[in-house]
Amino acid sequence: DLVASGAAPCVNLADPVREWLVVNKQRPLNPIEWEPDTVVAPADMQRTVDGRLRPAAADALTALVAAAQNEGVGAIGLNSAFRSFDSQTRTYNGYVNSLGREAADLQSARPGFSEHQTGLATDVAACDGGCGAIESFGGTAQGAWVAANAWRFGFIVRYEDGQTAITGYQAEPWHLRYIGPELAQVYHDGGFHTLEDFFGLPAAPDYVD
Ligand code: DAL
Ligand code: ZN
Repeated sequence: DLVASGAAPCVNLADPVREWLVVNKQRPLNPIEWEPDTVVAPADMQRTVDGRLRPAAADALTALVAAAQNEGVGAIGLNSAFRSFDSQTRTYNGYVNSLGREAADLQSARPGFSEHQTGLATDVAACDGGCGAIESFGGTAQGAWVAANAWRFGFIVRYEDGQTAITGYQAEPWHLRYIGPELAQVYHDGGFHTLEDFFGLPAAPDYVD
């Protein structure tokens, strides 16, 4: 793979059609209200809201959920996946109203700056006997398994503990970003913890404004 081998220096990391897109506080979607053509409901899993993903990411999540079940880890369910610019506006404003802007910015992306708007990100929950809160996911068997195994299905845990100075967000063990199996394998094998480091991009702890 040209990207993985470093032989493709001109790959456009800002093209939202590409699975290697990087969105962070310094890299908004372009155009700012961009939406994927197609998002579908991943098959064969519990869900707490009506989550949809781009087809490749949806299929990968179905495979991840099945593997967790087969490997004895338990049920993983879908919480929130694709969110439009308007939906992200509502989500972000909810955090601002309850926490204030500074705390909100550590947990929720401003509209146009969320991976959820790409259709490639999904929040997951542990769903044994009903789905728990996403905030509890990191402490579950499912959370530990996802941290170790998500790469097998093309996902990374995008916001890891200890990476806030680079990502701009608190740890979110439940937020999975699909980058495709090839890149995810290289990311895992290389021991990376942020997409910024993986692609040699600047840290993005804050918005430009
Ligand atoms: N919670 C993540 C950062 C988002 O809002 O996209
Ligand atoms: Zn998320």
